[in-house]
Amino acid sequence: MPKSPTSNRKLLDWVQQWTATLQPARVHWCDGSDAEYQLLCDLMVATGTLTRLSPEKRPNSFYARSDPGDVARVEDRTFICTASKDDAGPTNNWRDPAEMRATLLAKFGGAMRGRTLYVIPFSMGPIGSPIAKIGVQLTDSPYVVANMRIMARIGAPVLAALGDGEFIPCVHSVGHPLPRGKRDVPWPCDAEHKYIVHFPESREIWSYGSGYGGNALLGKKCLALRIASFAGRQEGWMAEHMLILGLTSPAGKTYYVAAAFPSACGKTNLAMLVPTLPGWQVRTVGDDIAWMRPGEDGRLYAINPEAGFFGVAPGTNRKSNFNAMATLERDCIFTNVALTDDGDVWWEDMTDEAPDHLTDWRGNSWMPGSGSPAAHPNARYTAPAGACPVIDAEWESPRGVPISAFVFGGRRASVVPLVHQAFSWEHGVLMGATSASETTAAAAGAVGKLRRDPFAMLPFCGYNMADYFGHWLAMGARLGPNAPKIFTVNWFRKDERGKFLWPGFGENSRVLAWICERLEGGGKSRETPIGWVPTDDGLALEGVKLPEGALAELLRVDRGEWKTEVAGAREYFAQFGARLPAPLTAELDSLERRLSAP
Ligand code: GTP
Ligand code: SPV
Ligand code: MN
Repeated sequence: MPKSPTSNRKLLDWVQQWTATLQPARVHWCDGSDAEYQLLCDLMVATGTLTRLSPEKRPNSFYARSDPGDVARVEDRTFICTASKDDAGPTNNWRDPAEMRATLLAKFGGAMRGRTLYVIPFSMGPIGSPIAKIGVQLTDSPYVVANMRIMARIGAPVLAALGDGEFIPCVHSVGHPLPRGKRDVPWPCDAEHKYIVHFPESREIWSYGSGYGGNALLGKKCLALRIASFAGRQEGWMAEHMLILGLTSPAGKTYYVAAAFPSACGKTNLAMLVPTLPGWQVRTVGDDIAWMRPGEDGRLYAINPEAGFFGVAPGTNRKSNFNAMATLERDCIFTNVALTDDGDVWWEDMTDEAPDHLTDWRGNSWMPGSGSPAAHPNARYTAPAGACPVIDAEWESPRGVPISAFVFGGRRASVVPLVHQAFSWEHGVLMGATSASETTAAAAGAVGKLRRDPFAMLPFCGYNMADYFGHWLAMGARLGPNAPKIFTVNWFRKDERGKFLWPGFGENSRVLAWICERLEGGGKSRETPIGWVPTDDGLALEGVKLPEGALAELLRVDRGEWKTEVAGAREYFAQFGARLPAPLTAELDSLERRLSAP
C-alpha cells in the first residue's frame, strides 16, 4: 500500500500530528491483506512475540505469552472523561478531560521511539452497513494489528468506504519505547502505568501501557461499547454487552435472542450452543456485543459489530462447546494458554486428562499436580467468526436480525432461579438494572466477589448509569408492543455443597425452548413476586439427570432472600440520587409490595 492511501484530509492531518508526538521510527498504513498478516506474523515469530503452532495440528495459528502484569482488562485504570463529572456518573472513574489529556500527552511523547506506528482503519459492523461505524487505530503493537484483523474488518476496503467521511480516532501505545541500543522484549508494555481513556463527547479513545484484549483492541470494548453506548443514547440506538443467537424450533420458526451476561459468564458458550433438546437448532450471530436499532417495521434489529471471537479458552472442550473447538482448528491466535511439547495448545478442561508435560503461560515447565493452572484463567483465543460451523446465514446482514427476547444473567450461587420472565418492559429494566454477578478473571482484581453489574455493562457504559437506565426505558416506550420480552437466567445456582445444580451448556437449550414458548403465549409457568417461573413440569427435561430436589431448588423463589435483594437494590440506586428514573423506583416498590403480599 502507498504511504498515505487516503485523501481524507482530517485523517492525514491526525496521523501526522500523532506521528510528531509519538516519534515512531516508521509509519505503516495497514491494507488488511493476507500477505500483510503473514508478514507481520513472521516478524513476530522472529522477535519472539509469537510462536508458530505445529502446521499439522493447527495450521496458520500462533501462540503468544503476555507479560504477567498484563493479562486482563484493568477496570481501575479505565477512565471516562466528560466535561462534567456527573455525566460519567458514580459507577465510572472520571477525570477532567484537559487534565487527562495533559497526563497522557506526557506519556505518549516519544512513546513509539524505535518502533513502527501502524495505522489500522477498521469498521465495526459490515462495511457499508447503516449501523456500522468506522474507526482508525494507531498502535505500535503488531500483535494488536494481527488481532484487529481477526476481530474487525480492517484496511483498504474500510478506507474506501470512509472516503472523506468521519472516523473515530483511537490512539494506542504499549508504552515501551526502544531508544537506540535498547533490546525489545516479547510482550512490551508499561504494566505499572496503564491508562484506558475515553472522551465520549468528542468520541476519542486514548490507550496507553497495555497490549492485552479489551485494553488494546480498541474497536471492542472501548469503541463498540463505551463510545457506542454514549453515541447510541444521543442517536436513539443501543450498544450492549450481548451475544446474539438464532433459535429455530421443531416447527421451523426462528427466534433471535440477545443475552447480556457479565465477562466470562457464558455468552460465547450460549451463542454456539448445541441443543440437547431434539429438534431445536442454534445459530450464532455474535458472542459479545450487539448494536441495535428500530427498523422500519418497528421491531428492534441487531448486528454483531465484530468479525471474530476473543473467547475465554479455559473450560472450552468438545463437550462444553463443540462449535468453538471446531472454530479453533486453524487461523487462530492463542494468548496465555499452555503449549504442548508437540507444538499445540492446551488449557484446563480442554481434555479429561492433562498432558504429561507442558510449558505454562508463564513459560515454565509444567506437569499435572504442579499446583498452578497451566493456562491463565483469562487465557483467550482470537478466531474468525466466519469459521464457526454454526454461524448464522444472516450474521453479516447490514440491516441486522429482529430481536424477540432479551435475556439477562450472571453468576449467582443462590437466590436467583434458573429462569424467570419479567411482567413488563419496565419490570425487565429493573431486572437488568439490579443484576449482580460474581467477578471473574476477565478483569484484574478479586475473583468470585458478588457485585452489581447492571445489564452486564458496569465496566462498559460510557456515561452515567442512571441515564443509561433512562435510555432503556425510552427505547421500550418507542418500541411499544414490538419490544422484545425480557427474561433473567442463572446457570450457576449451587447446592449446599457448592456444586452447580444445573448441568448448563447444551442443556441450556431447554431454558431457551421455554423462553420461545413464552413468546408464543405458552410455556407452563407460575406467577411469583419476581416474575413468571416455569412450573415443575414447565421445562422439557426428558433425558436430563438432575439430582433429587435439584429442580425445586433451581426454581425456588424465596421471599426473604428477595426482600434482602430489594434492600440491596435500594441502597445501590441511592448513589444515583435524583438522576435515577422514577419508573425504576416505582418498579422496585411494586416488587417489594408483591414480596410482602400474603
Ligand atoms: P467474555 O468474553 O469475557 O465477555 O465472556 P463470555 O460471557 O463470552 O463467557 P464464556 O462463554 O467464555 O464463559 C466463560 C466461562 O463460563 C467458561 O469457563 C465456561 O466454561 C463457563 N460457562 C459457560 N456456560 C456455562 C454453563 O452453562 N454452566 C456452567 N457451569 N459454566 C458455564
Ligand atoms: C470481556 O472482558 O468482557 C471480554 C474480554 O470480552 S476483553 O476484550 O478483554 O474485554
Ligand atoms: Mn465481553
